Amino acid sequence: MNPINRQISTLDEFTIQSLRQFPHATGELSSLLRDIGLAAKRVNVEVNKAGLVDILGDHGSTNVQGEEVKKLDIYANNQFMGVLQRGVSCAGIASEELDDYVAFDDAVSRNSKYICMFDPLDGSGNIDVNVSIGTIFGIYRRVTERGTPVTKEDFLQKGINQVAAGYVIYGSSTMMVYATRRGVNGFTLDPSIGEFCLSHPDIKCPEWGKIYSVNHGNFFQYADGVKKYITECQHKCKDTGGPYTQRYIGSMVADVHRNLIKGGIFMYPGTIEKPKGKLRLLYECNPFAFIVEVAGGKSSNGEVSILDIQPTELHQRAPFFVGSKKMMEELEGYLHPRL
Ligand code: AHG
Ligand code: MN
Ligand code: MN
Ligand code: MN
Repeated sequence: MNPINRQISTLDEFTIQSLRQFPHATGELSSLLRDIGLAAKRVNVEVNKAGLVDILGDHGSTNVQGEEVKKLDIYANNQFMGVLQRGVSCAGIASEELDDYVAFDDAVSRNSKYICMFDPLDGSGNIDVNVSIGTIFGIYRRVTERGTPVTKEDFLQKGINQVAAGYVIYGSSTMMVYATRRGVNGFTLDPSIGEFCLSHPDIKCPEWGKIYSVNHGNFFQYADGVKKYITECQHKCKDTGGPYTQRYIGSMVADVHRNLIKGGIFMYPGTIEKPKGKLRLLYECNPFAFIVEVAGGKSSNGEVSILDIQPTELHQRAPFFVGSKKMMEELEGYLHPRL
């Protein structure tokens, strides 16, 4: 087909097309994804004019993580929670910015099939200095009976149970990338029509890359195997023989998005002070582990695939390694050297 005439699918068209392929689908997941796209567009408006309106800086509160909450953290949380609560496809949510999960208690929501967990704004430390930030989400089927309010059991599911997971990156352009078991697709916001348009169909994570992402400031607190691998990254690279390139933005969405497209490895290891690291399993590690593994990459907490971890708490943290398959296998050789 002549590329000029190829109609670029909007997110709505793409999710509806998926419905045509699966006539038995109820359309609830498609509707949920469109709701998330709507909230992302609203957050994008505020992110794009941050600095001109009173949306920068601290909210003045501390969240359950013990972090200074930014105004945009709260704004984004309320946008995503609002569209999901008013929609017809989500029975409840958990969020980085909420101490506990929220069961949507109207009859329609109680009867919905899905629950959603999200980090409404990832990379908050970068908001005030105009560096890319994002939103991360994971979608699960509820495990308790429809028609009843969701319970904590619905949220403490292994990441392998995700039906879909994705992220929004508010960067030089605004993109929404999401994975289902059928693949990973990226949509870029076209401001002229206010729609996310398919720009990165069927994203695959290159088996190798030349980028490693880690906070070198914690180097001396990492385990020996991690230190050895990071040191090796500075000596050799499969393709060029030279060192890998170190790239670390401090917004996981931006770091992992780059590595997903170009190939690379992202690490937030445990440290002496924080053996479980910093990143939260349910709404940071699991969504990205799902996306990267669907795209052909791998994820780990240093021992097992992130997706196989049975959560016990909403805000639990996990050491996180994710990226190109061969680089993750290379890392594995340093974490668990064969005797
Ligand atoms: P959040 O802004 O949602 O709290 O998450 C920030 C996370 C993640 O985006 C990033 O990779 C990491 O914090 C950076 O942490 P360090 O500054 O400790 O490296
Ligand atoms: Mn935070
Ligand atoms: Mn985050
Ligand atoms: Mn956050």
